[in-house]
Amino acid sequence: MLDNQTTRREFLKAGAAVGLAAAGVSPVTATDRSAARIGIIGTGRRGGSHLRTLMRLPGVVVPALCDTHADNLAAAQDIVVKAGQEKPEGYSGSEHAFEKLVERDDLDAVMITTPWDWHAPMALAAMNAGKYAAVEVPAALTLKQCWDLVRTSERTGRPCMMLENWSFRRDNLAVLNMIRAGLLGQIVHAHCAYSHDCIGWFFDARTGQMRWPGKYLLNFNGSLYTTHGLGPVLSWLDINCGDRFDYLTSTATKPLRMADYFARKFGPDHPAAKARYEQGDIVTSVIKTVGGKTVVVNYDVHLPRPYDNRWLVQGTRGIYDEDKASVYIAGRSPGDHQWEPFEPYQKQFAHRWWKTMGGQAASAGHGGVDYIELALFVEAVRNKTQTPLDVYDSVTMSVVIPLSAESIAKGSAPVKAPDFTGGKWQTRKQVFAAES
Ligand SMILES: NC(=O)c1ccc[n+]([C@@H]2O[C@H](COP(=O)([O-])OP(=O)(O)OC[C@H]3O[C@@H](n4cnc5c(N)ncnc54)[C@H](O)[C@@H]3O)[C@@H](O)[C@H]2O)c1
Repeated sequence: MLDNQTTRREFLKAGAAVGLAAAGVSPVTATDRSAARIGIIGTGRRGGSHLRTLMRLPGVVVPALCDTHADNLAAAQDIVVKAGQEKPEGYSGSEHAFEKLVERDDLDAVMITTPWDWHAPMALAAMNAGKYAAVEVPAALTLKQCWDLVRTSERTGRPCMMLENWSFRRDNLAVLNMIRAGLLGQIVHAHCAYSHDCIGWFFDARTGQMRWPGKYLLNFNGSLYTTHGLGPVLSWLDINCGDRFDYLTSTATKPLRMADYFARKFGPDHPAAKARYEQGDIVTSVIKTVGGKTVVVNYDVHLPRPYDNRWLVQGTRGIYDEDKASVYIAGRSPGDHQWEPFEPYQKQFAHRWWKTMGGQAASAGHGGVDYIELALFVEAVRNKTQTPLDVYDSVTMSVVIPLSAESIAKGSAPVKAPDFTGGKWQTRKQVFAAES
């Protein structure tokens, strides 16, 4: 296992290399032994977007792609050819075609951008075949899958990084630097949410036909899409490096939106209007940490509303509120308990990843965040170091899904969170996004 602490020096070196690579200093070709050779499973919307970003990064070769959907696979092969690389070998024809891809001996890493049921099985297959795994959110859906990922990563020594892009946002990393500089004092509380009207992702909004994520709304009731909110919170609260989640309680509202939306759009007899949905429209979870902090997490992806993450982090000396784009630092902010704009703090506490890569990243997905996330993954692969988010981070964010469902099923009863680090959280250092 590439342990975070033992590889810290190498990781920092990798960070420096990213700056160079991103500046175009160390491009590689398919025959270059220092290339990161990456295969992708799932070449739909997200897979295609990652592939385009990977093609912009120096030092990446994509020899193989896999998708059950022939058109998506062909379109992805086209992206690689248009970028000037050889046409990647395509794997298709069965849901298990990926098993052949992961066995190739010319791959260092496998990126998984398939529907959720496949994430953990594919990441396990990649690690068992000796590859780094980069897996889209969430890394796992069940407690067992979380443990399987941890044990397999530890046994094989292969990192498993969940691609939680919001951990790499410019604002969130500046807040992390402020926290590490002590501006907010001791951290006490955080709030986060994924508030986004995703009806057009669960369903084809034109026809009401269910897409693959829609099935979870029928037979699941929990905080189903949680990691985007939790990503930065993990680092702000030193989770798995000084503190850890202890237990959570979750409460769900009734499910009203889907039936209402489709009844209005297509009439009450449309299948999507008549379906019986389990998943509540809003789920509120409260997580307590062993160190006495609390986190409120909202799942809120059904109702019509503008996008929001509602990040807030509060300590003994101050508070950051993303919604207000403001901070208040006791003894520093002007006025008596008055908010002041966050923007100057974001500049002053800018993270080195954004200083070195922000320019190149700008036109990539999610305001450049996806570029920075993938550049850091690629450099870890090239340098054979730990990934910036490791398997413990990945499962700690994902496990809120099954734990919240269990709490809701038990009438909002507290549910214990496992210690995936096996006690190492007490001595692990803050490595994620360390500045020095
Ligand atoms: N981090 C982010 O910001 C973000 C944004 C969007 C989606 N995502 C995640 O990306 C993943 C993919 O979402 P999407 O919107 O691209 O979905 P999609 O339906 O557009 O793409 C999924 C692809 O996987 C393929 N596929 C399904 N089963 C397969 C199998 N067994 N083997 C090979 N290919 C298979 C499908 O044919 C399809 O091409 C999801 O896990 C989602 O949560 C993350």
